[in-house]
Amino acid sequence: MTNAKKTVLPYRLLDAGDEQKLEMVGPYKVVRQAAQAFWPKFANQRDWRQAVDGVHVRSNKGGGYWDFTNQPPDEWTIAWQDYLFKAKFTDFGHIGLFPEQGYTNLSWITEQSQNPEMDVINLFGYTGGSSLAAARGGARVTHLDASKGVVTWARENFELNNLAEHPTRWIVDDATKFLEREVRRGRRYQGFILDPPTYGRGAKGQVWRIEKDLVPLLKLIKELADPLQFILLSCHTPGYTEWCLRNILHRLFDLPLTEIEGGEMAVPMESSDCLLPSGTYARWTRK
Ligand SMILES: C[S@@+](CC[C@H](N)C(=O)[O-])C[C@H]1O[C@@H](n2cnc3c(N)ncnc32)[C@H](O)[C@@H]1O
Repeated sequence: MTNAKKTVLPYRLLDAGDEQKLEMVGPYKVVRQAAQAFWPKFANQRDWRQAVDGVHVRSNKGGGYWDFTNQPPDEWTIAWQDYLFKAKFTDFGHIGLFPEQGYTNLSWITEQSQNPEMDVINLFGYTGGSSLAAARGGARVTHLDASKGVVTWARENFELNNLAEHPTRWIVDDATKFLEREVRRGRRYQGFILDPPTYGRGAKGQVWRIEKDLVPLLKLIKELADPLQFILLSCHTPGYTEWCLRNILHRLFDLPLTEIEGGEMAVPMESSDCLLPSGTYARWTRK
């Protein structure tokens, strides 16, 4: 049949070990660095070598390049959880999504966002996974990232998931600068999602360092929260353990520790019952 629908293949983590991971990004089999995979690989060498389309090579200065055996197209669509997502191999070794969020936080975000009168802001929103989850719940969404390119990518992901008409504000800005302005404007939000990087650059080159900038950012969030309905803080920074993030939420928002959930974000591997640890999270919701 000529009009048969093209099959959209999913994201899969096939195996991890020896500080590498073997993934299927839709139809493409690739190897990327996984600094936390300190155990020996589960799958055999043949599985790691056979039909691999590309290997990401890290450069010493950060970033890097892809060594492709088969050159993939510039972009393609994959299935991720129950979303469609635009995938792309970037020089930095990213693929357009952080799979661990899908196994840890996306359905939680949707559950917390079931109110169309609620305003949810996703800072450091990247290609929009968490924003899609909030939009699916029904809440109004503000999606922010310092990079214009990824905000455009997030909009395309909303279109792919039939959410282009959802009430969403698209903001290209530095997270701190934008929240300072929102405080001055008297804006209010009830749901907050933030997955800050260790180090980043704002839209006008402002430097973001998690150890210096996270607490002031959370103080701004406290001013904007009226009332606070939920907050999800996750990160990939070494040293920012589950208890670190719990303590930060407890200390800054006076939330009872017993009401703050936390844990490791992780991705299941097909080669074993083990999970690949990929960052930490803490979250709170009004009961
Ligand atoms: C770890 S990624 C977030 C991943 C996202 N939560 C997800 O699950 O798809 C970090 C993002 O923060 C953005 N960023 C870095 N510095 C920023 C800043 N100062 N203000 C706003 N966004 C920033 C980067 O452009 C990047 O998209």
